[in-house]
This record gives sequence, C-alpha cells and structure tokens, in this order.
Amino acid sequence: MLTMWEITIGTDPVLEESCLWRLESWTTLGVATEARASTFKIRAFCLDEPPALRLAQLQAELTQDATTFHLLPPEISLTAIPETDWATQWMTHWHPRAVGEKLIICPVWLTCEPQGRIVLKLDAGLAFGTGEHETTRLCLMALEQVLQGGERVADIGCGSGILTIGALLLGAKSAQAVDLEEQAVRATRHNLALNQLEALVAEGSTEAITPPVDGLVCNILAPVILAIHPQLRDLLVPGGWAILSGLLVTQVPQVVQALGQDWHVQHTLTEGQWAALTCVRN
Ligand SMILES: C[S@@+](CC[C@H](N)C(=O)[O-])C[C@H]1O[C@@H](n2cnc3c(N)ncnc32)[C@H](O)[C@@H]1O
Repeated sequence: MLTMWEITIGTDPVLEESCLWRLESWTTLGVATEARASTFKIRAFCLDEPPALRLAQLQAELTQDATTFHLLPPEISLTAIPETDWATQWMTHWHPRAVGEKLIICPVWLTCEPQGRIVLKLDAGLAFGTGEHETTRLCLMALEQVLQGGERVADIGCGSGILTIGALLLGAKSAQAVDLEEQAVRATRHNLALNQLEALVAEGSTEAITPPVDGLVCNILAPVILAIHPQLRDLLVPGGWAILSGLLVTQVPQVVQALGQDWHVQHTLTEGQWAALTCVRN
C-alpha cells in the first residue's frame, strides 16, 4: 500500500502564515491548518518521504521566524500514514464553507448544497487559498462589498485562484491573475476550469498585468504590500480600488501610513488577528 507522509508543525498562531509560506517551496499534496486553543497545528501531506536535511532546514527557518517575534520555535514532527487513512483524514478537513452573504466554497470532491448561494468550486491543496485562511475570506467579503458588476479585476498573488474566481462569480467582467509560483498559475487555471470561468493567468507579479484595471486584490504579506503598492496604484484607473490583505491587525497603521496621500482607506475588515483594507486610489 502507498504511504503518505505528514509533516506536523505545532506553532503559535502568529507564525501560521510564515509556516505556510515556508511550506510553499515543498511539493505537497496539500496543507491543512487547525486552531487548538492558543496554538496552531499545520499539517502538510507529501507523497515522498521528506529528506531529514530538508526538515532540519525547515526547522532552522521557522526558528529564525520565531525569534523575530520573540516566540518559541515551532515543533516539527513527521508521521507515515497509510493511504486509506490519509484519504479520509485529508478530505474530512474540508467542508463547504459559506463566506460573506453570497458565496459558498465547495471542495470539488463533495456534492454541495448551495443554500441559496453562489458555488465556488475549489480543488484545495494545490496552492495557498482554500478559504480556510482568514485573509482569503476577508478578501472575498471585501470583493462582495466593492464589486458593482462589470469591473476589470486583477489578482496579485493568486495562489489557488480563489479570489479571481470569487471576483468573477460576484460580477467582475474580466480578471487577470498572477503569481510568482508556477504551481499557483497551474492551480488557478485548474480551478477556473472547474468553475467554467476564464481569466488571463500568468507567472509573475504586477509587471505581468495589462493595465488599466478597475480594481485589484492583493493578499500577500505586509512587507510585500509595502514594497509594491506604488506599482499596484499604477495598474488602476483613477478612483480604482485595491483590496490589500495578508496583514496582521497590528501592521495596519504602518501600512496605512506608507500608503500616504496616494490612497485613502475606504473599509477595514478584520477577523481574529488578520485584516483586509479596501483602499481607493486618489
Ligand atoms: C497568501 S497567498 C494568497 C493566495 C490567494 N490569493 C488567497 O487569497 O488565498 C500569497 C500568494 O502570493 C504569491 N506571491 C508572493 N509574493 C508575490 C509577488 N511579489 N507578486 C506576485 N505573487 C506573489 C505567493 O506565491 C502566494 O501564492
């Protein structure tokens, strides 16, 4: 019988995003997160046994991240799981999830009861963006608030393509999606096809978007948003909007200050320690 490998990381919630980022360079079948009281458990599933050296490197990287936040290093463990158990464990992590007023995210292997909502089908596990993370949900809710119908939208850091698909389902006329990771580009194309939608998908970042767009979403960490917000602004029509997330609530003042006179913040949504800003280009 085929054996799967599960890397488990026990971590403080503050390091959740760092862990997910560090795992992005790994070839996994999927990553699941579970909140447990004041800690987080992140489980990454792999087909091949991860080399000990690679695990040691992951531990070193996460220890470094933890030190930045004055936290204890995350604990990493590796377990072999028989395929039958794996299939059940993995699939039971995802359930249909209603987001905002209009959407319901449905893992593609489940038959989903729409409950009067628009169904967003997703093959979770190919790239970041299952709807399980707060920032993804906040971006979908912000899209629901801001989209009137007929907009041209860009998704910078598309991951699984969930926000591109969400924008199109919520009424955007067209979408362009980009990500630095080739795996995300493939996942976005795959998930668009599952939803019978089309968008321009490319590997890259802001330079790979053809302007102008009426609105954009960028769910990447604060340092990246701080670095690329001038380029984001250049993609937009005057008065265009940008949903910026991947931000901790505590990072919002710094980001708002950096946006300066070029933008004004229209809405702020938060869930737990995470925030999403809807900003309008001045
Ligand atoms: C937090 S995930 C967001 C995925 C999805 N949009 C969502 O909301 O769930 C961030 C994604 O941005 C990509 N990324 C990171 N830096 C980027 C950059 N400078 N330009 C474009 N994509 C980037 C990563 O590869 C990753 O897929």
